[in-house]
Amino acid sequence: MGYLNHMAKKHYIISNIPIHGIADRGKGVGRSAEGMTVFVDGAVPGDVVDVFVQKKKGGFADGRIERIVTPSPDRTEPFCEHFSICGGCKWQNLSYEAQLKHKQKVVEDALLRIGKISIGEFQPILGAPETTFYRNKLEFGFSNKRWILDGESVSLPEHADLSGLGFHKAGFFDKVIDIRKCWLQAEPSNRIRNTCRDIAREQDLPFYDLRKHTGYLRNLMVRLTTTGECMLLVSVAKDEPELLQNYLDAILKRIPELTTLFYCINTKLNDSMFDLDMQTYAGKGFVVEQLGDLKFKIGPKSFFQTNSLQGKRLYDITAEFAGLSGTENVYDLYTGTGSIALYLARHCKSVVGIEEIPEAIVDAKENMRMNDIHNARFYAGDVKNVLSPEFVAEHGKPDVLITDPPRAGMHEKAVQFLLDLEAPKVVYVSCNPATQARDLQLLSAKYDVVKVRPVDMFPHTHHMENVALLVLRS
Ligand SMILES: C[S@@+](CC[C@H](N)C(=O)[O-])C[C@H]1O[C@@H](n2cnc3c(N)ncnc32)[C@H](O)[C@@H]1O
Repeated sequence: MGYLNHMAKKHYIISNIPIHGIADRGKGVGRSAEGMTVFVDGAVPGDVVDVFVQKKKGGFADGRIERIVTPSPDRTEPFCEHFSICGGCKWQNLSYEAQLKHKQKVVEDALLRIGKISIGEFQPILGAPETTFYRNKLEFGFSNKRWILDGESVSLPEHADLSGLGFHKAGFFDKVIDIRKCWLQAEPSNRIRNTCRDIAREQDLPFYDLRKHTGYLRNLMVRLTTTGECMLLVSVAKDEPELLQNYLDAILKRIPELTTLFYCINTKLNDSMFDLDMQTYAGKGFVVEQLGDLKFKIGPKSFFQTNSLQGKRLYDITAEFAGLSGTENVYDLYTGTGSIALYLARHCKSVVGIEEIPEAIVDAKENMRMNDIHNARFYAGDVKNVLSPEFVAEHGKPDVLITDPPRAGMHEKAVQFLLDLEAPKVVYVSCNPATQARDLQLLSAKYDVVKVRPVDMFPHTHHMENVALLVLRS
């Protein structure tokens, strides 16, 4: 097993690699007979594959499947027509049960095997009831150079229209995959995107050229709520009022489900929209999402959990781990738009949220008012700077502290502050088990990790959340 059968200058094939696990970014991982660790895009645990090696460094190789020698019994037929090129839902070729099993194992490996953290109770991962159409927000790009499918180039006329609207092809910043049907967001999402493409072609509007920075239409963002509201944001490259009005009016006419329509003018070289002025063209200028008995006002720039149904279940586990009786003072670090803080506010005496993005704090305060909550306070700033003895003196020592940091985990200074603060309970919500393991290791100087529960928010991807309850040792 695992001998080199062809040695080219840079690329070569290694045969018969048994795939035994899943690595960091969702690639299959196996080991060659020579003991080299091989990461294989598209391979799933249980496969035996020949690997086309694209990169090799030290004892590691990175590549893609050249041939499946023996398919894993957990392999399934991907249901999306774009699966082979899109890369958005890489695990559609793996049964959902097997996906959950491997996510659970990734968390166990990070916390138990690598982090060597002693854990009281390791609860089974909470799978998602909806494994398709679970996202509430999707962004699409216009490009005048869509990704050409294998074999298609032969039949293309010389001056064929190559415009496309969809997702960027990984590794090709200027090309998009022209998406006809995406399984991530429910209708009318596909119809909105396809109608926007049709109208653009009918009106002869140029799709953006990401290399030359020419063209007009740049991006779309679609946001749906579980309450049936529907937001569309259209980003264009220049201020052309007549073109814009014709385009947006046609969209409104053909997509009556839209409850609010925005546009923004992006003259920058990059596609990011968070720093642009958003203009409301129609509707009330926001949508309202419902999570349990709470309402959240969401504008075009607001952050919100992208899977509303599973987001609620994540918050339910967080609340269960926090075990509030109504008398507690709670801190919610990395609060975003205050959603966990507000979710818990009715079950505790007071709650304080900290978040570095000032606009998110504006939304958090607005959400507090909208839900008639009066025992929450929100502060904008970096957790490691905002948390201070003065802050604690002003807001009181927390009985329960929730922390939900970004993928990079918590800053060491913030972890040290938590150790000095000695809140009796900490609930650590994480989207990256590796950084969570690192932080839990540090916190284990004073805390016992009583229980953990992984949650699958993003079926068919390698992403997961993990909630841990830490109790201060007496
Ligand atoms: C994983 S999100 C959690 C959001 C929120 N808890 C929720 O459930 O919607 C992490 C949040 O931390 C914020 N953030 C990142 N680094 C930060 C820092 N150093 N200090 C404060 N907030 C930070 C991000 O802007 C983001 O809103």
